[in-house]
Amino acid sequence: MESAIRVLFIGDIVGTPALERVVQMIGQLRQRYRADAVIANAENAWEGKGPGKREAELLFAAGVDVITTGNHVWENWKSRPLLSNDPRVLRPHNYPPGNPGGGVAVVKTPRGLLGVLQVQGRVYMPPIDCPFRTAKRALEQLREHTPVIIVDMHAEATAEKIALARYLDGSVTAVLGTHTHVQTNDARILPNGTAFVTDVGMSGAFDSVIGMATEVALRRFLYQTAHKYELAHGDWRISGAVVEAQLPSGCACAIETFCLPMPD
Ligand SMILES: [Fe+2]
Ligand SMILES: [Fe+2]
Repeated sequence: MESAIRVLFIGDIVGTPALERVVQMIGQLRQRYRADAVIANAENAWEGKGPGKREAELLFAAGVDVITTGNHVWENWKSRPLLSNDPRVLRPHNYPPGNPGGGVAVVKTPRGLLGVLQVQGRVYMPPIDCPFRTAKRALEQLREHTPVIIVDMHAEATAEKIALARYLDGSVTAVLGTHTHVQTNDARILPNGTAFVTDVGMSGAFDSVIGMATEVALRRFLYQTAHKYELAHGDWRISGAVVEAQLPSGCACAIETFCLPMPD
């Protein structure tokens, strides 16, 4: 359909071995879903923490247009210069002023401009600025550039994600949840034309506890003390969502999620 744009969104990439597999798959996924643009959440791309320069370069070289992150981006010091220097690498927009980077990007696609916004929830997460009001303010500016806007809502609580999607329904193309690493079965289009899914899921080793080696996760829960993060290996999968929007309205006409095997 000529008068539509399709955006591929890849869920939280966990660790370098997963990143390398994702990079190999982006071309075929782009074709399979006839995607005009690709967004990837890379908040865990380096050892479970935010991406450094190498990780970002690999994703951009593979055809990713915008990288989003999340709360774990602050745990890799090498992510900070990236956030400061590359406007295509986002962090949640509602962190207090003074932090490097921002959560808004506008990029060119073959079908026109695509806007991306990332905000983070506050339920069971750091008490940062209001994601609802921050998103509203950011969208006033974004919508001057394009009606095609994808929002990465990085949050723990399902209700908070649904509430934000309802709040923005009709003013953005899609609200896609990230952070919990478990894909939800509720992809739908809301009454005013915004596509939504509570969580797109993770891209990494599924033989794990949300990407972390099972033994380490168990030690953390059993002993209630800190144990060094270890990446899991095995049962590699890539998860995400594809959103199709009408042009020029930017209204979503379809959303589907995917969770596909990646090579060992
Ligand atoms: Fe994550
Ligand atoms: Fe997160």
